[in-house]
Amino acid sequence: MKLDWSHTVLNIKDKDKILDFYTKTLGFKVSDSGPIYKDGPEIIFVSWNPDEHHQLAFVLGREDINSTSLNHISFRADTYDELQEIKDRLDTVNCDYLPLCHGNALSFYFNDPENNGMEIFIDTPWDVEQPQGEVWDPGLDEKSVMEWVENTFKDKPGFVLKEKSTKKFVNR
Ligand SMILES: [Fe+2]
Repeated sequence: MKLDWSHTVLNIKDKDKILDFYTKTLGFKVSDSGPIYKDGPEIIFVSWNPDEHHQLAFVLGREDINSTSLNHISFRADTYDELQEIKDRLDTVNCDYLPLCHGNALSFYFNDPENNGMEIFIDTPWDVEQPQGEVWDPGLDEKSVMEWVENTFKDKPGFVLKEKSTKKFVNR
């Protein structure tokens, strides 16, 4: 098994300042944005790499400038079996996790022993406009879980097989 670095999500206070810096100064492009869940805070995804939906994302609503800005760090696993292995490892140490599917990924969200947020995920075959989030059942086998993903997200905007996807960035 191996885990590849994927992205970091930060909690932010000032959207305009942050986006100006990351897009105008550093050249990142916005790939998607929207409420993280119904009536929830906005999340803005940015990337330099058209093949990586987001290398960074920002969640609005960091209350206290002295609190940590880290929302979560994220690693990509290669296969569903590896994702199941991660689940087994977390179970072994009684680490709670939230299985969340973004349509384009199947993820486990959890905290390290010092409460730093983490995500480990695999890609699904599809792209779909973000943000999206539905709890998925890790007890399903790979075929069943992929059928569930397709059925759950196929009517969402921008749902398309990744190999046919043309949308990379939204203009800002
Ligand atoms: Fe993430």
